[in-house]
Amino acid sequence: MPDMVHSHAYESYSVNPVTSDGKTMQAPVTGTVPRGFLPFPFQATPEDALRAGEELFNPVPPSEEVLARGQHLYEAFCLVCHGETGAGDGPLVPKIPTPPSYRSAALLKMKAGQIYHVITLGKGNMSSYASQVSRRDRWKIVHYVQHLQQTEESQ
Ligand code: HEC
Repeated sequence: MPDMVHSHAYESYSVNPVTSDGKTMQAPVTGTVPRGFLPFPFQATPEDALRAGEELFNPVPPSEEVLARGQHLYEAFCLVCHGETGAGDGPLVPKIPTPPSYRSAALLKMKAGQIYHVITLGKGNMSSYASQVSRRDRWKIVHYVQHLQQTEESQ
């Protein structure tokens, strides 16, 4: 069965007389999204942070388990600066510029999508957590930040 051994198809990296650029393997068309990849069409700007607040909604339904996971991640990644209750008094302060309290008037106005935007892209002296914390886990932290905003004494 020689046909099975000697393929008539062009090899991926071989020269191709049919395509316009002479290559067999073609580049993906502009705007192609790899399988399993979810685009995040926002930049690290104040305008895009606000837009994220309008356009993004927490896809993770709240539950005790979700909140417990959010708390665990918060304590691992955020507490060091933001403090146990989110008052902006973590052990690294004042070695870093003091973060705002989650219960300040400005931060109480933040919508879930905007908090997610900050965790994903960072802001000022706060870096992005996109490479360490998965998308789903970031949304769980958002639940926990909002929980801190609601439950702790306001100041
Ligand atoms: C290295 C210290 C540090 C760590 C760790 C840190 N932050 Fe921040 N965070 C800051 C500082 C400083 C600001 C103020 C940034 C600014 O306004 O320029 C800030 C701002 C914020 C804001 C308000 C953003 C705004 O638009 O005013 C939120 C919400 C926030 N952080 C959440 C988090 C969460 C959630 C984590 C953990 C995933 C975290 N931060 C980890 C230092 C930190």
